[in-house]
Amino acid sequence: MSVRPLRLVQVGAGAMGVAWLRTIAAADGVELVGVADLDVERAEAAVRSVGCDSAGGSGSRLGGGSVVVAGSLGELLAAVEPDAVVNVTVPAAHSAVNVEALFAGLPVLCEKPAAPTLAEALVQAAAAEATGHLLMISQSRRYFAALTAFRERVAELGPPGLLTTDFYRAPHFGGFREEMPQPLLVDMAIHAFDASRHLLGAEPVSVVCESWNPSWSWFQGDASATATFLFSNGTRYVFTGSWCAEGRDTSWNGEWRAVAAGGTATWDGESRVTSSVRGLEENVAPGAHEQIAGALAEFAEAVRTGSRPDSAIRGNLGSLAMVEAAVRSAETGERVNVAALMEQAYEEALALPVRDEVRERLKSWGAVATVLG
Ligand SMILES: NC(=O)c1ccc[n+]([C@@H]2O[C@H](COP(=O)([O-])OP(=O)(O)OC[C@H]3O[C@@H](n4cnc5c(N)ncnc54)[C@H](O)[C@@H]3O)[C@@H](O)[C@H]2O)c1
Repeated sequence: MSVRPLRLVQVGAGAMGVAWLRTIAAADGVELVGVADLDVERAEAAVRSVGCDSAGGSGSRLGGGSVVVAGSLGELLAAVEPDAVVNVTVPAAHSAVNVEALFAGLPVLCEKPAAPTLAEALVQAAAAEATGHLLMISQSRRYFAALTAFRERVAELGPPGLLTTDFYRAPHFGGFREEMPQPLLVDMAIHAFDASRHLLGAEPVSVVCESWNPSWSWFQGDASATATFLFSNGTRYVFTGSWCAEGRDTSWNGEWRAVAAGGTATWDGESRVTSSVRGLEENVAPGAHEQIAGALAEFAEAVRTGSRPDSAIRGNLGSLAMVEAAVRSAETGERVNVAALMEQAYEEALALPVRDEVRERLKSWGAVATVLG
């Protein structure tokens, strides 16, 4: 039986937006029906670059094209009736777009990070709960066949005493990343932090973090950091990284090592996974849907079947909390307790200007601990 394709609109057509448009164009079971960006010309160029016809600005199907282009989600929704929204705007715009989409009755797949602050992410979790629609955060670096293999090797060792990520690269992005106070921790380390939760199947308890900017840095904010997390299962997770490290780049996933009573497992962040158990070394072939294609496939499946992805907003809060806790520790020089930080973010969320339905939902929780279980 053939299933009608899921009709998607995408908001945000910047650098990553183009990658999403290509991924949507190549995916089975989904159809792009609209693209919005504050910069309408940018959206039109992005749509053309992936070989689609655009249908003009202001939300109208000018020219009879197949993909409506507009300057905002609101304009798009006046012109097309999608089944879901993909949000690839800048982090500061994520909350407004996600909440608007959810209250328009649409499930949302949103790029990481959910929001610049944990408080705004809690507002989004309340909006998802109030509307009953799925809000999933795309943590694209969860979707690697080699990560899945590494996870299996780690599980064979018993609970790790130590899990480490080493991340060293020297990208020149320009744009918002070179102006943020904490580009490495906020924009990049969230991938590794999220993967650490996925690998350990445990939650972060506290962190000590130091961040700094090397003298040769081309970033305004801190491009280097080291963070040591204590997890609920007793694991110490140590992230060490720099975005100003010329030469001998690691993978974008970083290089990983788990040390447990049963031995040691490693992942080079690419295809190579090793375990000291039976001296195993393997080159893992890529999966059918990796990175954002993996997130899109899981989202589409969840919208069709009602299944609940691990990275639905509630499940993603722990990864964002790791970022905010690491930043707080770097700023204060103190160990930061993640549960206390969550409760503080909850108080901040209650003070934000939000829809009445969202505020009521937030209040009904009483404490964040109740929604995290
Ligand atoms: N998963 C990954 O590996 C990965 C890699 C790069 C970027 N990202 C994430 O993707 C997102 C976008 O990053 P980017 O590099 O494409 O940024 P970008 O600045 O290149 O593009 C963002 C676009 O969003 C548009 N925009 C902003 N607010 C909007 C609004 N309210 N409505 C419509 N359009 C709006 C801007 O005009 C811009 O064109 C960020 O959250 C970033 O962290 C993820």
